[in-house]
Amino acid sequence: MKPILVSGIQPTGKLHIGNYLGALKNFVELQNSGKYECFFFVADLHSLTEDFDPKEKKAQIDDVILSFIASGLDTKKSTIFVQSEISEHSELAWILNTITPFGELYRMTQFKDKTQVVFNRLDRETEGQRNGRSSMSVELATDLATNVGLFDYPVLMASDILLYDAKFVPVGNDQDQHLELARTLARKFNSKFGKTFIEPQALHTEVPRLMSLDDPEKKMSKSRPEGCLFLDDTPDVIRKKIKRAVTDSGNEVKFDEKEKPAISNLLLVYSAFGGKKISEIEKMYAGKGYGEFKSELAEIVVKGLTPFQEKKKVLRREMEEVMKEVGDGNRNAKTIALKKMLEIKKRIGLI
Ligand code: AMP
Ligand code: TRP
Repeated sequence: MKPILVSGIQPTGKLHIGNYLGALKNFVELQNSGKYECFFFVADLHSLTEDFDPKEKKAQIDDVILSFIASGLDTKKSTIFVQSEISEHSELAWILNTITPFGELYRMTQFKDKTQVVFNRLDRETEGQRNGRSSMSVELATDLATNVGLFDYPVLMASDILLYDAKFVPVGNDQDQHLELARTLARKFNSKFGKTFIEPQALHTEVPRLMSLDDPEKKMSKSRPEGCLFLDDTPDVIRKKIKRAVTDSGNEVKFDEKEKPAISNLLLVYSAFGGKKISEIEKMYAGKGYGEFKSELAEIVVKGLTPFQEKKKVLRREMEEVMKEVGDGNRNAKTIALKKMLEIKKRIGLI
């Protein structure tokens, strides 16, 4: 039997090239390698932890499905499904909650990052009255304002993975801590109730963490759209964004993450879209400046994204057919999840 591979993407708006180079492109390569039994899903339950408009959610889910298939995922080779269609994900999350230490979740970086916004606001609001109070009260206020789903997010993610006995999880490195928790929970459950789960491991690409175009110190992220290059951006927008991307001092095109973080980030994009080694690209631009490098990079990205964008347009017109195939994926995932849930329930003595 082939090792099982699972990954998901949240439908929270448009996908950017960080999602593509850190995850989606790899999904396609892993699928096509034929070495794995692949499951890819839309993490719609996870996406409810952020502010959203219910009127837009379904379109966002459909958009991730279209992006999956337009980038080369194939319902004949992989099981493609929607998380909320498989209620066992939430069911297992509850069971895993009961063996998850509060402290493990409390120290998760993503949780801290996402609550930081609330934290800063509360910090400002309470500033005037803070004299003499410990900062703990502000922290506590933050915790009270944050939804519990955001806190519990990694446990749901662990159930997404453990439910399918996945050995591999292709993700960007921002998910490493969550993967670690999934391993911890698998071990804990196994030692308490008997061997039930496999300990999963992350698979990273050469671009496990793409940085923002406007600030190479910050990860490219949907929460900062000004630094993102989106997969659906038109050629003109792509050209403009790359032209405007910040560069480092000097003018030598050289990979040096410490001294030249912005150019190094762009070199990673060039290499991934252009299929060339970084050292090769450095040679090509020896003696040339940033300007020439950037304008050629823009054309490479445009060329790399055009087939994806065209395919997505066609697929959008065939949405009914696409959703039928996803329906098959949902049924397949459900069958597997149901069987695993029975095993889990037996282990803990519920049945
Ligand atoms: P999300 O949109 O948060 O569901 O992320 C989908 C996938 O893209 C996950 O595997 C992330 O780790 C990955 N990802 C998100 N941002 C980046 C980035 N800036 N660089 C590399 N991978 C990323
Ligand atoms: N947390 C992931 C992200 O934001 C999305 C996700 C949810 C996921 N469940 C998963 C990724 C299971 C891999 C496996 O990127």
